[in-house]
Amino acid sequence: MILRETIDEIKNRLDIVDVISDFITLKKSGQNYKGLSPFTNEKTPSFFVVPGKGIFKDFSSGKGGDSFTFLMEHEGMSYVEAIRFLAKKYGVEIKETEATEQESAQQSEREGLYILMNFAREYYHHTLLQDEEGQSIGLSYFRERGFNDKTIEKFELGYALNGWENFSKEAISKGYSKQLLEKTGLVVKKEDGSSYDRFRGRVIFPVHNISGKVIAFGARMLGKEKNQPKYINSPETEIYHKSNVLYGLFQAKNAIRQNDNCYLVEGYTDVISLHQAGVDNVVSSSGTALTEEQIKLIRRFSENVTILFDGDAAGIKAALRGIDLILKGGLNVRVVLFPDGEDPDSYSRKLGTTDFQNFLKEHAKDIISFKVDLLKAEFVNDPIKRAESLREILGTLAAIPNEINRRAYYKSISSSWQIDEQTVIHEINKIRRKNEDQISQDQKRKSAEVENEEVEIDQKLLDLEDLPLSTDNMVQYQERETIRLLLNYSDEALEDQKLSDFLFHELEDVAFVNPIFSKIFKGLKEGWEKNEIRSSHYFINEGSEEVKKVVTDLIALRYDISVHWGDKFHIHIPKEGDILNEMALTNVLRLKLRIIQKMLDENKDKIKYAEESGNESEVDKFLDTQIGLDQAKKKLSEQLGIVIAR
Ligand code: GTP
Ligand code: MN
Repeated sequence: MILRETIDEIKNRLDIVDVISDFITLKKSGQNYKGLSPFTNEKTPSFFVVPGKGIFKDFSSGKGGDSFTFLMEHEGMSYVEAIRFLAKKYGVEIKETEATEQESAQQSEREGLYILMNFAREYYHHTLLQDEEGQSIGLSYFRERGFNDKTIEKFELGYALNGWENFSKEAISKGYSKQLLEKTGLVVKKEDGSSYDRFRGRVIFPVHNISGKVIAFGARMLGKEKNQPKYINSPETEIYHKSNVLYGLFQAKNAIRQNDNCYLVEGYTDVISLHQAGVDNVVSSSGTALTEEQIKLIRRFSENVTILFDGDAAGIKAALRGIDLILKGGLNVRVVLFPDGEDPDSYSRKLGTTDFQNFLKEHAKDIISFKVDLLKAEFVNDPIKRAESLREILGTLAAIPNEINRRAYYKSISSSWQIDEQTVIHEINKIRRKNEDQISQDQKRKSAEVENEEVEIDQKLLDLEDLPLSTDNMVQYQERETIRLLLNYSDEALEDQKLSDFLFHELEDVAFVNPIFSKIFKGLKEGWEKNEIRSSHYFINEGSEEVKKVVTDLIALRYDISVHWGDKFHIHIPKEGDILNEMALTNVLRLKLRIIQKMLDENKDKIKYAEESGNESEVDKFLDTQIGLDQAKKKLSEQLGIVIAR
């Protein structure tokens, strides 16, 4: 177990803006920072970072929390991984107690994979540079391709010896288990139980995740052996999911942000050659079309992507296939076409740094114009092809989410296909409506699936934004307000006692309606009874996901939120802090008042029901209750009136 003091030390040193800026571009906005949500495909920023509180809040996905939560949500780290990551970033020494067997088993699962992958990276790299075979075969191959020492270091390139067990023997002698070797995919197990190294006699390209850890390898053959794939890659593992990894992103991410553009190429060697030619903002999807996850990854750093096409026709066709998806993801797409027979790798070497960089700048063409020209060349004199290609270009244009960006092309399509502009617009809108129907159906299906799985509580009750003004909801608003006061001002002194003392005494026998609010209230009360301070951090660290979310909401941008409620529910929200006394008192009164109102409503239903079923004595009983409740209501209202009038 990592000691509390280590975590506290990390918290002392970290700066959430600094942590999040490694992954997202943030802009200052008043006291806070704003950016595009990395969890959705939004166009206007609704991702907030509140440095004063050390938290973030993403209004578009609803996610929120502290630096640890961010790394867990965004990078898929476990809590322990997030701690280790931040400890490393801020130079904090990790102190831990001996782990129990179960703890270390769980923890070591993923960690073990990372550690072994890192060992393998060092081993292959060392073999390339120091081993005789590595030098004469691997290193000389890289030299032939023109890779210099700096490049080889930057990409941590390596070589796997041509034998069945070189790597496994080395790893086992260093204490790594056979099981772990198989789990990383570095070793392949045969049916008879024996096993062999996956990568043999190949040069090695480590694949890094966004924070620089090696999660997979690509391995290229050197000779011209038939019946052998040119590349072999690591299989999917617990730490490697091919569809959400981009080769080179770790090395490119800062340059992508700085240039506000990401070059997309086909493979490992293209990425590396471009770096050598001074173009650092480049990634590869390793020979396949981009996935939605990969598009989102790029979008974290820039909205502009420039795809570099090999000059052959097959390459163009293949690359065009994935474009609609990229456009749908909200990226602006440009393309550069290379002369026939050239790819980014060969051409960058041919032209040299300056000429190559100029070539890229001068030949980048926006994707729609590029596609229009390409299709136009195909359909001359062929009416069937012409109709087909029109459908295709309209589909592509419709994929662009932004109307203004689409509008720029109506004219060129109308003139190229010789149809009037109104028809173009009409057809585009038709396609878009159809797509939207499809999307909303998909979403409905997805949310239905989620509901069936595990919905414990209606999300709306947590957000409390668009609810009808039922008395039940009013009670919950006031419950939330109670928690908000406790989280923000627990220790503040009122006239003659602390705010927490006052609220817990007053609300001793009040049961909360909303289960999540109730849980937080109980947690706060438990701390209060033990005389221990439970701040928002306690709940953000220890609570369930719903608890975390509510607590984050209540301390994030709290004034905005309060004002929002205030308008909607006619709750007077004065500037807080110096008027806590009144606020605490009115909160208690309002909560009680609203509970009574709720009871009154329910009682009315009971009276009505008793009347309908002709049960006179029941009617009398409920009428008595009503009178009692009315009196209590009147009293509370008076008190509340007095407080408000002050
Ligand atoms: P040359 O251009 O011939 O020097 O080879 P290269 O190493 O640059 O690879 P190539 O241009 O043929 O392929 C580009 C990318 O496609 C590679 O980086 C790989 O990601 C992928 N690729 C190519 N061949 C294979 C293969 O046999 N299997 C797999 N899985 N991927 C491959
Ligand atoms: Mn190539």
